[in-house]
Amino acid sequence: MDLLDLARNRKTVRRFSKEVPPLEDVMYALKVAKEAPSGMNSQPWHFVVVKDDQIKSKIREVCEAAEKEFHEKVKGKLGNWLKETGIDWRKDFLSKAPYLIAVLGNSREPYWIQSVWLSVGYVLLALEEKGLGTVTYTPPNPRDVERVLNVPKGWNLQVILPVGYPDDEKPKYRRKKLENIVSFDLFTPRKW
Ligand SMILES: Cc1cc2nc3c(=O)[nH]c(=O)nc-3n(C[C@H](O)[C@H](O)[C@H](O)COP(=O)(O)O)c2cc1C
Repeated sequence: MDLLDLARNRKTVRRFSKEVPPLEDVMYALKVAKEAPSGMNSQPWHFVVVKDDQIKSKIREVCEAAEKEFHEKVKGKLGNWLKETGIDWRKDFLSKAPYLIAVLGNSREPYWIQSVWLSVGYVLLALEEKGLGTVTYTPPNPRDVERVLNVPKGWNLQVILPVGYPDDEKPKYRRKKLENIVSFDLFTPRKW
């Protein structure tokens, strides 16, 4: 499969089968991630692979507590989207996915956020290549998760990637057409 096929096939996965994928496949995705470019080549990323059920449950517990508060308050565009898609405060995938990859960034480095997210993009396509699925889960209160994982000062949790074999009926959401997102020479606004 070429890169375009991988990108087209990939979709967000929030339900996983119980089968545990080989750890080497997760490590393969991280090998790919570390080849991402970064500001000043600072490579400001660290990946914590969580396999332990107790640590996963603790992460789920702190995230769901924050999610409950968040879902009580959320309104507007995001609130409507969450209702339409049926996403609520429950985050089963945090304890049910065989692995969680917590992605941390070193906030002392320049361009650390952009660089860390670039590496996340690499991870997503590499997982897809191995037949694995994930969701880029951004917890409402990352500090709680950092405490669970003993993260030192200066490192910030950007995202948790639950990883496993997909067992999710959810379709891939539609993407905009190429001609609607590209203009030449001068920016020309386009509709969907
Ligand atoms: C920066 C970012 C943050 C996201 N945060 C969450 C999240 O917290 N929870 C979640 O379920 N999905 C999250 N997503 C997944 C998006 O909802 C998903 O990529 C989008 O709806 C497209 O879905 P598709 O890739 O399956 O077509 C996030 C995606 C990105 C890129």
